[in-house]
Amino acid sequence: MSTTTTNPVVIKGKPIADALLADCEKRVRRIIEKTGVTPCLATVLVGSDPASEKYVDRKGKLCVKHGMKSIKIHMADTSTTEEVVAKVTELANDKSVHGILVQHPMPKQIDERAVFEAIGGAKDVDGVTFHSFGTMTYALPGFGSATPEGIMRMMKAYDIDVKGKHAVVIGRSVILGKPMAMLLLASHATVTICHSRTVDLPSITRMADIVVAAVGIADFVKADWLKEGVIVIDAGFNPSPKGNVGDVDYDDCAPKCSMITPVPGGVGPMTLAVLIDQTSIGAARQLGVSELE
Ligand SMILES: NC(=O)c1ccc[n+]([C@@H]2O[C@H](COP(=O)([O-])OP(=O)(O)OC[C@H]3O[C@@H](n4cnc5c(N)ncnc54)[C@H](OP(=O)(O)O)[C@@H]3O)[C@@H](O)[C@H]2O)c1
Repeated sequence: MSTTTTNPVVIKGKPIADALLADCEKRVRRIIEKTGVTPCLATVLVGSDPASEKYVDRKGKLCVKHGMKSIKIHMADTSTTEEVVAKVTELANDKSVHGILVQHPMPKQIDERAVFEAIGGAKDVDGVTFHSFGTMTYALPGFGSATPEGIMRMMKAYDIDVKGKHAVVIGRSVILGKPMAMLLLASHATVTICHSRTVDLPSITRMADIVVAAVGIADFVKADWLKEGVIVIDAGFNPSPKGNVGDVDYDDCAPKCSMITPVPGGVGPMTLAVLIDQTSIGAARQLGVSELE
């Protein structure tokens, strides 16, 4: 007889994010006291996608709220790769800028990889460069990709030990699925990465102790894809007729889970907090101030 989990622990990102931001604020105050320099995040937005504009504005405002500066570079839809790379290179060479966030996705004509690489490892506070992917993969000091790093910190806060667990990541994007898989692997999980060409996805997710959904399709994951007691992390954020929802059909899946993240209020706040935290850490490193108290 199988046991049915009916009351999962709901993993809430907001309190963990708030604690992280409070620590970050202390670090920012210390940096300003010791150097007289206010840490600064530069955000780069190319084009006029309303959702991206909203995300970038939110990131800039959160920086200011926690004692840092933010400058916003907004480039035209028609910008070329060369123009965007030149602007990002200028920011990478600007000593008053300590972190650079390039909002993804960019217009189709832009070579996103070339733009990301122009950031360089030291200011890559969103963890999108090859350098950061390398440090994540080898568990070396560096900057984590904001959403996957936020998920790892959230799991740690809930005492989820991924060692030896079978984690199935659905999605392999450069900002989410792939770095997620690498961070889980570096923490000794056994990792399976699934994507749009995966055959019989439910048969794979049914073997998982942990499922991370990073697909971009509303309510995609269903209860009969999961085994009893699974931990489900929903990184999705999708507009739908019933409001913003995740990639996991929460009401269907929750009764089967031991732990699950809600949308909103789960992964989202962690992504922003990690970006702000890593900006303050980047500033500390560049200005020669200890990151820790
Ligand atoms: N909460 C946050 O802070 C945050 C941050 C970033 C993103 N997100 C959300 O996370 C979700 C994923 O974002 P993303 O940028 O990673 O998206 P993306 O770049 O579109 O990647 C989606 C991934 O899902 C895979 N996929 C698509 N359809 C599939 C299917 N039917 N079966 C299995 N895999 C499938 C794709 O496979 P292929 O590689 O084969 O195409 C791809 O690897 C979105 O909802 C996004 O809004 C949230």
